[in-house]
Amino acid sequence: MAGEYLLQVEGLKKYFNLGKGRILHAVDDVSFAVRPGETLGLVGESGCGKTTVGRTLLKLYKPDGGRIIYRDEDVTHVPARRQRELCCKMQMIYQDPYASLNPFMTIGEIVSEGLEINKIGKDRAERQMMTYDLLEMVGLTKEHANRFPHEFSGGQRQRAGIARALAVNPEFVVCDEAISALDVSVQAQIINMLLDLREKMNLTYLFIAHDLSVVRYISQRVAVMYLGKIVEIGSAAEVYAHPAHPYTQGLLNAVPVADPEFEKSKQYKAMTGEVSSPINCKPGCRFASRCPRATEKCRTEDPLMKQVGPDHFVACHHL
Ligand SMILES: Nc1ncnc2c1ncn2[C@@H]1O[C@H](COP(=O)(O)OP(=O)(O)OP(=O)(O)O)[C@@H](O)[C@H]1O
Ligand SMILES: [Mg+2]
Repeated sequence: MAGEYLLQVEGLKKYFNLGKGRILHAVDDVSFAVRPGETLGLVGESGCGKTTVGRTLLKLYKPDGGRIIYRDEDVTHVPARRQRELCCKMQMIYQDPYASLNPFMTIGEIVSEGLEINKIGKDRAERQMMTYDLLEMVGLTKEHANRFPHEFSGGQRQRAGIARALAVNPEFVVCDEAISALDVSVQAQIINMLLDLREKMNLTYLFIAHDLSVVRYISQRVAVMYLGKIVEIGSAAEVYAHPAHPYTQGLLNAVPVADPEFEKSKQYKAMTGEVSSPINCKPGCRFASRCPRATEKCRTEDPLMKQVGPDHFVACHHL
């Protein structure tokens, strides 16, 4: 149905050529769709390709295959001018705000840079007012505008990074581990702020995190990634209540709970075995080397996505 989705990703691929015939399959045939106003959580272990998905969607990497459809427009390959417009619509919040904020610019300059480049606001004075408004929106004040990133706490820096991303009035925001580097108490504040901003600014998020516990409170839908592929995707309610892929079950099992009885009663097996290499991948399920259910078929044949519930899809031969 036209207009049902803000973003549709079909068979997206991003490979890195490491030289000497070694090709790293960072994102390998990834498909998902996000409705306006919704948050899709994207989880998986370090190196599974989450950031590469985000960066490829924003064209910071050139896609090697598949299609990216934004508001019913195929934006996979568009002229530079259209791409610049799209850059305002699609923004990213980074894991490490310290590394992503220029240390030689004040917070005010960092936040207003996007306004200037995109000629938002009629003059300098108006852009300054807009910058102050943005700082206030993320819980900072206009007094912060003249300070440098190193004068800020981690949480304040992340707020500044969020203000910078929101300055150009985006519709779709990739939050790449936006809270992972922060203290737990600060994490909750930032998550709540992101939830508020989602309402206020009609934002749609792709919310990237390592583990399922973090995305639980913010996502309506969840996608679980393993070595370049999505292995399970569905409504958060379904995926948390009935995780069907052995990897998702393993991830949920890994979330510690402060209750020894519950810890003992955990129903899913812990993950063992070696992680396969994402370089020059052969056919077959990439999780097979760690999977308690793996059979010969898993080692030779790629599992296809199967529907297991109303909004719940899983790629596994042994459901
Ligand atoms: N620019 C690059 N050149 C070569 N390889 C890359 C590049 N960027 C990422 N990779 C590789 O692609 C794979 C996916 O990396 P990516 O950063 O997307 O993972 P991630 O899921 O975001 O991990 P993390 O949770 O640690 O942030 C990894 O094997 C990584 O080493
Ligand atoms: Mg990453």
